[in-house]
Amino acid sequence: MKVGIFDSGIGGLTVLKEMISTHPKAHYIYYGDTKNLPYGNKTKEELKICSDNIINFLIKKDVDLIIIACGTISSNIYEEIKDKYGVKIVDVINPTIDYIKKNNLTKVGILGTYMTVDSKVFENRLTDVKQVACPKFVPAIESGKSVDEYAKEYLEQLKTCENIVLGCTHYPLIIDTLKKYKNVNFINMGKCIAEIIDFNNEVDLQVDLYFSKVDENLKHNVKQIVGEFEIKEI
Ligand code: DGL
Repeated sequence: MKVGIFDSGIGGLTVLKEMISTHPKAHYIYYGDTKNLPYGNKTKEELKICSDNIINFLIKKDVDLIIIACGTISSNIYEEIKDKYGVKIVDVINPTIDYIKKNNLTKVGILGTYMTVDSKVFENRLTDVKQVACPKFVPAIESGKSVDEYAKEYLEQLKTCENIVLGCTHYPLIIDTLKKYKNVNFINMGKCIAEIIDFNNEVDLQVDLYFSKVDENLKHNVKQIVGEFEIKEI
């Protein structure tokens, strides 16, 4: 089984990490579009162009399944692209909403990119939801800067929430900082999808990592998140 996973950068690695831990016997092909990040403020048309390039790249690599490991693409254009390519494509938002419903979670807060919040994907399908757009997080996470000040500012707006969705796949990378300011149940979308996805686990683990722009900082981040795998720039 070959599984393609993609995101704007290192965020989707949080999904890859959960997939490896739950489904270790698969061949994963990851693409991080570091040259074009952040995706969180792009228009739907721009998101379609970026995802089209990546999906075609993954299809050429012969993947059997593609996981959109990006909240922004999942919430804005998933319905439009899911049946377009002749390969099964799944997103990270639907499994997260299903998880919230299944567990009857209330007082739900959403931290997400500007475009994810603007799509109202959570608001439209759940009751008792409060959303906060966090545009300062992704650039800081990718460049390894402190997010303390921003975490405080954003979480201040979710005072009454008992469950908070990490609505962008980059945010599990700053979970320790988030917990410092609000110790509630944080929901990791990577975990939600890894738990429900089902496929034949039949090959030894293989992980191929591709990024559109690679530098030393990226190599360091990747190693911290998923360990030592070869990284190719393409
Ligand atoms: N990690 C992505 C998401 O889940 C993209 C964030 C960004 O590039 O702004 O939304």
